Amino acid sequence: MQFEWTPAMSVGYAEIDQDHQRLVEIINEIYAPSLSTDSLRNLLLKTLAKLIDYTEFHFRREEKILEEHNYPYLEQHKAIHADLEQQVRDILERVEKDDAHNFDMQVMMEIMTFLRGWLFNHIDDEDMAYVNYIT
Ligand SMILES: [Fe+2]
Ligand SMILES: [Fe+2]
Repeated sequence: MQFEWTPAMSVGYAEIDQDHQRLVEIINEIYAPSLSTDSLRNLLLKTLAKLIDYTEFHFRREEKILEEHNYPYLEQHKAIHADLEQQVRDILERVEKDDAHNFDMQVMMEIMTFLRGWLFNHIDDEDMAYVNYIT
């Protein structure tokens, strides 16, 4: 069950749209129904680490662009980013602590669904709010 970035999600700024597409791709990597439990856990560890890395890269780049455009709500936006980063770190920590036997496709789908909302809701609610300030 893949999901896609669509032009309706565009903020009209190439680097940011490319980052959002990359984040969608990384989250989609969690979907791997043919893998065994151990492999699912490994996949999740690897993918969440990758997601954290790319999220940090994207958030810093986005914040820099907002700063360059004197976005008046930059501080609030940074605080939301920090909270979102922490949410993924918490998931990774849970997976690290969790016994390998708890990983099946249902758990994977739950995490994927959460991350999908995590990304899409932020783009829809908070990123869309800066569009008129950067274009
Ligand atoms: Fe953002
Ligand atoms: Fe963003």
